[in-house]
Amino acid sequence: MSAPSATTAGIPRHVAIIMDGNGRWAARRRRPRMIGHRAGARAVNLCIDFCLERGVAALTLFAFSSENWGRPADEVGALMKLFLNALDREVAELHRRGVRVRFIGERGRFDAGIVARMDAAEALTAGNRRLTLAIAASYGGRQDIAAAARALAVEVAEGRLRPADIDEAAIARHVALSDLPPPDLFIRTGGDVRISNFLLWQLAYTELWFTDVLWPDLDRATLQQALDDFASRERRFGLTGDQVAAATPPETA
Ligand code: IPE
Ligand code: IPE
Ligand code: MG
Repeated sequence: MSAPSATTAGIPRHVAIIMDGNGRWAARRRRPRMIGHRAGARAVNLCIDFCLERGVAALTLFAFSSENWGRPADEVGALMKLFLNALDREVAELHRRGVRVRFIGERGRFDAGIVARMDAAEALTAGNRRLTLAIAASYGGRQDIAAAARALAVEVAEGRLRPADIDEAAIARHVALSDLPPPDLFIRTGGDVRISNFLLWQLAYTELWFTDVLWPDLDRATLQQALDDFASRERRFGLTGDQVAAATPPETA
């Protein structure tokens, strides 16, 4: 994880999104929740297009949380089918557009068919550089940190690491997305103002942005609003406003 620089925000390098509100979108139409999930898939494409256009380097989407396994079996089953179909349908096009696809989360909890498609999508797109798209699937921030702790414990047990050397950088190396800059901007749709066990470690200094717009209703104007708001914020990373101003070169015309 690169050290954050104290700077006034421009275009975020990394955007992380909780795509929420599919179920309520369907309920308002008196339709089954699954209809909302299907409609949500369209918003995913819109969001990827937007990031490609604006030069955002990395996009992390929360698709399914570790806790979402606890939903009714028919909803989980339908979501898995949707996930599988989306992988079959979208990956070739993402590859053509220069998108590097990867998955974070507990992959072993998925069926073999889905795991095989995840592996294949990552292998196919590994060399792409226009946009890194990380899909958080069966992901939990606490589980992520616990896995990092386990990995460090193994290094200690094998004599490769001293407990005294376990610092912030050591943990950062082992949590998900360790090769990307931490998210600059977090967006949550659906009106709830919470993190819901998303990237707990990685969001430490991320700018948070919430909207009542339900995920399937996402449009470009809403995403632009998030970017505009982000650009107007002063990120201080614990320093004073004066320090930040002194470190930021004045804008040249
Ligand atoms: C987000 O929408 C998608 C997943 C969690 C899979 P929800 O299904 O949580 O929609 P709401 O929050 O019930 O409206
Ligand atoms: C977070 O949404 C997870 C995803 C969007 C995938 P939830 O709908 O599961 O979150 P809570 O239950 O409202 O906190
Ligand atoms: Mg929800």
